[in-house]
Amino acid sequence: MSLNIRKSAIINRTKEYIKKEFESEGSGHDWWHVYRVRNLAIKIANLEGGDLFLIEMAALLHDLDDWKICSEDELRVEKWLLELDLEKSVQTKIIEITRQVSFKGANVENKAISPEAKIVQDADRLDAIGAIGIARTFSYGGSKGRLIYDPGIKPEMHNSFDAYKKTTSPTINHFYEKLLLLKDRLNTKTAKKIAVSRHQYLTEYLNQFFKEWEGIDF
Ligand code: ADP
Ligand code: NI
Repeated sequence: MSLNIRKSAIINRTKEYIKKEFESEGSGHDWWHVYRVRNLAIKIANLEGGDLFLIEMAALLHDLDDWKICSEDELRVEKWLLELDLEKSVQTKIIEITRQVSFKGANVENKAISPEAKIVQDADRLDAIGAIGIARTFSYGGSKGRLIYDPGIKPEMHNSFDAYKKTTSPTINHFYEKLLLLKDRLNTKTAKKIAVSRHQYLTEYLNQFFKEWEGIDF
């Protein structure tokens, strides 16, 4: 089997596995989020460079071990990669990328290191802003039984990943605690360009939201 055929078979198996695992995920982490992140990561990589196989694999697997979906010691990415007949060094690279992707709080530094991790992280972050980001945020908030908004509860800038994980604040606060910060935390030029209109959409949405809240939109 040629290397390319082998690689595409591995990607297809991984895609089917992830589709199945994420079938009934209702907190904004469904298969279609993974699908969009994968597509966006490939588009960015086509303009910026990077190993396409590593990028596609890491994009497909990036949320599999997310703390919101499963317990941190399940190591499902590692287990899945062991099932595939991949070289150890490739497995290690994919695991490293998936670990470097996630957002851990406003004041918590988490820089993606390899060019591939930078691209997958950017694609994941772009899917958290714009119209889709808004939909995912309310879907996540709803799944946790959170209020849409409470004027008495102010957004918090979390200093640790633990504090960020524990928050139960209303969903509008999440815009200030994460979404509006993302445009300045992107790694690649291409992602920064894509973020401009998505970020603007967030700010327009919030303006309208608060106008309607106060009844001053007419
Ligand atoms: P990603 O898959 O982009 O890494 P997360 O795993 O952080 O995103 O969260 C999944 C979705 O739920 C994202 O759109 C994110 O902004 C949203 N989300 C995460 N935490 C909260 C929260 N506390 N309140 C509302 N939405 C949240
Ligand atoms: Ni994600």
